[in-house]
Order: sequence, then structure tokens, then C-alpha cells
Amino acid sequence: MREKLVAGNWKMHGNQAENKSLLNAVVAGVAELRGKDIAVCAPYPYLSLVQTMLRDTNIVWGAQNVSQYDKGAYTGEISAAMLKDFDCSYVIVGHSERRALYNEDSHTVALKYVAVQREGMVPILCVGETLEQRESGITEKIISEQLDAVMNMAGGASLGKAVIAYEPVWAIGTGKTATPQQAQEVHEFIRARVAIQNAEEADNLVILYGGSVKANNAAELFNMPDIDGGLIGGASLVATEFISICQALQ
Ligand code: G3H
Repeated sequence: MREKLVAGNWKMHGNQAENKSLLNAVVAGVAELRGKDIAVCAPYPYLSLVQTMLRDTNIVWGAQNVSQYDKGAYTGEISAAMLKDFDCSYVIVGHSERRALYNEDSHTVALKYVAVQREGMVPILCVGETLEQRESGITEKIISEQLDAVMNMAGGASLGKAVIAYEPVWAIGTGKTATPQQAQEVHEFIRARVAIQNAEEADNLVILYGGSVKANNAAELFNMPDIDGGLIGGASLVATEFISICQALQ
């Protein structure tokens, strides 16, 4: 039985005061939702605040990126061990914004994935195609390349303790959600691809959908057999929206 998860990705939004008030509202709003996995991935400077405010709640937290290196002269970078120091449970790796805006290739993403697992945290590996790729009929090819970079990683990246987020690039921040059927098709494909290597891991793998998930479409998406929750961008910044999305977890 897979645990369903809703994770908020705040991206580069909020300040100290706004984050405090958002967290206060979310903590109160989901306090009764015991037994559901809820996480927020905050910008680095607010991890300490998040750690303090969420410590005794039913919400865990994580980061949005990590260095692939353990330590060294990498000005401006943050290591997995540093994130572990702030009790992060999750770290997002390979978000499409990082792939597109910071030229992260799948090999770098795989190194980051392994760095997160090495510190005992759970990577949320993002995969997804652009609109052009979907229209050219190469969605599965793109997803396979992104997945294979991790699955074929020398030294063995495990999909046992990981979350995958399918985020079609054309649905991110556009208000254009994939239909539950479109998302289900790709989720099923991802699970089948992982199953070729390890059927048990595939069965237990939590696969989130991300891309314009809102309170009014979450339940329909989360009810699909291979959709195990969501990675929520814009709607995670609005307490009432995020709480309703968490409530949509069955
Ligand atoms: O990580 C979250 C995704 O990029 C989705 O963002 O919900 O604003 O479309 P969005």
C-alpha cells in the first residue's frame, strides 16, 4: 500500500513574515489530517524557520535543490549534509526550471539524487516533457531518458526510497493541467519502466503529479490509480488552496 503525499514547492517566493503566516495557517488547517503525508519545500534561507515551526506538527519539510558535491570550494552551493542538518526529509532534484534555466542535465540530476539518498533523505525526482516534445510524440522517450539516468547510475541509485514527480513542463504555472487520463498514462508508463528493473520498488514507488494542481482539480487527479499525490507550486502559497489539496488525499 503506497502512502500518498502532497508536497508544496514554494519556489523563490515569500519573506519571513509571509512564510510565518502561511505556515501558521497551514499547520492549523491540516492538523486533523493525521495519517496523510504532507511536506513543504522552502527556499534555503527559511529552512531554519520551517524546522522550528513544523517540528511538532504532522508536516515535514524539504529543500528545492542541492549540490551534487559533498563539500569543497563551490561558492553559493548547499550540500546534502547541510540540508540534513536542518532535518529535511525531502529534496527536489531535476525540477524542469533547473533543467531549463540552469542547464542541469540528467547526469547532474542523478548525482544530486544519489547525494540526497546518501544522507538518508528522500529525493523527489522531477521528470516531464515540453509541449513541443509531447506534440512530436516523444513524451515516453524523454521520460525514459530522465529516469534511466538515475536507474543506470553507477554505484546504484535506489528507487526504493524515492519519490518521482511527473511534471509536464507545459502544465507548470500555466493553469493548463494535464487531464487525469493524460497524467495517469504517463504515471503508468513510469511505474512500468521502473518495474523492468525492480517490480517491488515499482509497486511501492510514490509518483506525484505536478502542474497547475488546484483545490478544484486535485481530487480527480489523486483518484487515478497511479497518481499518488501532488507536487504543488503556486497553490502551495495560498493556505486555503493548499489545505484543500491536502484534504483531497484519500
Ligand atoms: O514543483 C511544482 C511545479 O512546478 C508545479 O507548479 O503548481 O505552479 O504549476 P504549479
